[in-house]
Amino acid sequence: MITIQPVKRRILLNPGPATTTDSVKLAQIVPDICPREEEFGEVMKDVTERITKFAGDPEQYTTVLFGGSGTAAVEAIISSAVGIGGIFIINNGAYGNRMCEIAETYGLKMTEFKSPSDQPVNIEKLEEELDRRNGKITHLAVVHCETSTGLLNDIKLIGQVCRQRGIKLIVDAMSSFGAVPVNMKEMNISFLAASSNKNLQGMAGAAFVIAENTELEDLNYIKPRSYYLSLFDQYSFFKKYGQMRFTPPVQTIYALEQAVTELEDEGISNRYKRYSGMWQKLVLGLKEMGLTHQVKKENHSRIVTSIMEPDCPAYSFPEMHDFFKEKDITVYPGKTGEENTFRIANIGDLHERDIDEFLFLLKSYLRIIGYQSKTL
Ligand SMILES: Cc1ncc(COP(=O)(O)O)c(C=O)c1O
Repeated sequence: MITIQPVKRRILLNPGPATTTDSVKLAQIVPDICPREEEFGEVMKDVTERITKFAGDPEQYTTVLFGGSGTAAVEAIISSAVGIGGIFIINNGAYGNRMCEIAETYGLKMTEFKSPSDQPVNIEKLEEELDRRNGKITHLAVVHCETSTGLLNDIKLIGQVCRQRGIKLIVDAMSSFGAVPVNMKEMNISFLAASSNKNLQGMAGAAFVIAENTELEDLNYIKPRSYYLSLFDQYSFFKKYGQMRFTPPVQTIYALEQAVTELEDEGISNRYKRYSGMWQKLVLGLKEMGLTHQVKKENHSRIVTSIMEPDCPAYSFPEMHDFFKEKDITVYPGKTGEENTFRIANIGDLHERDIDEFLFLLKSYLRIIGYQSKTL
């Protein structure tokens, strides 16, 4: 007989997969089941309907699950939703850039709108660029929380710009969904992509698209560009048979069901309050050490922070990473290319005491390397 030992806890300060509760970890331990059984179909139906409720009315919107990482959901939307029209992509960081690469891969008519990675999108300029292409743009794609910097794009405003022009809005909400509140109808979002393992605090392996039912039905008129990632085929197969087209990540979905219950119990606004509390503590602590972050507070997601590396010859990210790793804390490298940064995400089953511990250890590391700050 196997006895289940308590699971060692690690503090993951990378922007997902995030630290999970023991109850989510243990939800994966279930009797083996063939995922084609009706019983498992019911689990997926329940999970997807409850996920939909976080963003819209399940009578009008549907969550379509895919086995895969978050990029699968973004790629499913971009490859499936754009017909003969053009897609306009706001690129203000690594994940905006990734959407451009996906559009290029599929040979779409794509316009890249580059915007600084640490500043809000210039809406006047955006409108000007869209109007210059009068009628040629059918879809606009933007990342909600740009995980490479922590910048939060103003989806509501961008949604209004799209509404005025009859453009469909695609949002990569990978690192915002489950914490930063979204209302797809109010924000005029046609397609949203997210995954199981960030603010939902589930396990990696399930990606999903939330979309309006009418939008999903209309995809039937667009020839799929991808076999596995065809959004229409995945949606219509599930609607017809109550199953995923291909083998689902069974245990990840059981864990997701538990994670969804935990998010319902906490509530999205309280989860964001908890994350925001940790973030306030983080930025205050950094300031006390003389460290600064890339994105201004007023434009910040409060999910992930891109921190300017300490100006000290002995600083080395790999060494700092290993220093923390020995203490069961994971810190994350930067991803901007323009600035020397490292990143700290305050998502998952973490609490202010975890941020206190991180700050205490960061101070120790900086002392060890001889970082000179007036405040240290
Ligand atoms: C905004 C955003 N989009 C897409 C992705 C890609 O997700 P994955 O690595 O799960 O494919 C990430 C991952 O961090 C992300 O933050």
